[in-house]
Amino acid sequence: MSEPTPPVAGVLVIFGITGDLARKMTFRALYRLEAAGRLDCPIIGVAKERLSDDHLRGAARAALEATGEPVKDEIFDRLAGRLSYVHGDFADPATYKVLAKALEGCARPLFYLEIPPALFAPVVAGLGQADLVEGATVMIEKPFGHDLPSARALNDELHQVLGEDQVLRIDHFLGKQPVLDISFLRFANALLEPVWNRDHVAAVQITMAEDFGVEDRGAFYDPVGALRDVVQNHLLQVLALVTMEAPVGPGHRALWDRKADVFQAMADVDPTRCVRGQYTGYSKVHGVPTGSKTETYVALRLEVQSWRWAGVPFFIRAGKALAARATEVRVIFRRPPRLSFLDEPRDTKANQLIIRIDPDPGLRLAMLSKGADGRASRDVQMDLPFAAELGRPPEPYERLLHDALIGDHSLFTREDVVEETWRVLQPLVDHPPAPLPYRSGSWGPREADELLRGHPPWQLPWLPDAKRAED
Ligand code: BG6
Repeated sequence: MSEPTPPVAGVLVIFGITGDLARKMTFRALYRLEAAGRLDCPIIGVAKERLSDDHLRGAARAALEATGEPVKDEIFDRLAGRLSYVHGDFADPATYKVLAKALEGCARPLFYLEIPPALFAPVVAGLGQADLVEGATVMIEKPFGHDLPSARALNDELHQVLGEDQVLRIDHFLGKQPVLDISFLRFANALLEPVWNRDHVAAVQITMAEDFGVEDRGAFYDPVGALRDVVQNHLLQVLALVTMEAPVGPGHRALWDRKADVFQAMADVDPTRCVRGQYTGYSKVHGVPTGSKTETYVALRLEVQSWRWAGVPFFIRAGKALAARATEVRVIFRRPPRLSFLDEPRDTKANQLIIRIDPDPGLRLAMLSKGADGRASRDVQMDLPFAAELGRPPEPYERLLHDALIGDHSLFTREDVVEETWRVLQPLVDHPPAPLPYRSGSWGPREADELLRGHPPWQLPWLPDAKRAED
């Protein structure tokens, strides 16, 4: 059954407009939407600093220029013409009264909360008390909870004021083009779907490697760690797209239902099958307490107990200060038998299908071919660089903001889906193994290799040409 056409937001209200995320991402996304003619409403920024509308416009221009975006006056002026500002303390009911005044005559507001998580519920309560939520949607940044009980509590608090259909939980990975491509590739290509199961797949590896440390985010990162920062949200969402069944109809509900199924089929993680690591020098990062036990690397094994996937291990690893920047999904197929018809019978290697998410998204099929000398076999790769073949996609925040404005909820996450991801990881949250040290610039603690014993070992990620490690 198709869903009714969603209403388009009449005004965008950004709480936390003076923050880091707005500076680095939001203004640029808004500018690009303006340039593409896809912005069609006023924008009100809310934060505690006392600023005039003109100050905000100046800050927007400076932020845009700092991101390296080439700014055209004519486009910026159109964007600036939409911007206005309300200042106030988020805990003070007077702030919402001023906001209500600014919203007079505007229908269907989209409230975007890019503020510290502890303020999500108080701001939503403030909006509710000021009667501002009718017909509104509220878009909430990550992290959504820090474990299962806190995610449930936050959902309960939001639902005292908002219906589930009014809540958009952001995960910017869901706005990345190659992540969107996963389900499309799987279900639109008759070649892939028949082999996408336990009969053909030996293991799946998902890697998110970053070649930089925590930098100036020590105070934010230390209470969070790699598991909560990128696994519970980004990488589990990717895993769901790799493993879910095809949605049975259009619209976000059909998609979310299939994602919910796959998380429900996921066993709780076994903490003895996890490795946590911390790069040397992490404890000296500004904002990190001495003796911190926070992991900057985590590797774990998950299983999906379904007819399609039972017995296939899903290995996930994510880390900071690793040897390269690479985020990819690697599907490793079963090995063919020994080829006895060759002059020199040999063991063969498994085919692999790699979806590179970052940097330089693309698809690679790794196969074996007979070498020209007629004896040796050779690794050959079929590469599909998405940008060259399919064009440059919009940035994740540009896409997500636009979707939220036009009422398309598909790329956001649902209450039960978020809670299931926490349920899967909760044993590791409760019983984290001690973090093992690893050298900055390495591939993480060696002990993570042990996790894969009996399965294909960790593969070097497919790196862009400049940093190629595998070819
Ligand atoms: C964020 C994490 O959600 O995602 C960061 O908080 C991480 O620690 C970032 O570096 C990675 O996102 P991207 O899009 O730059 O790969």
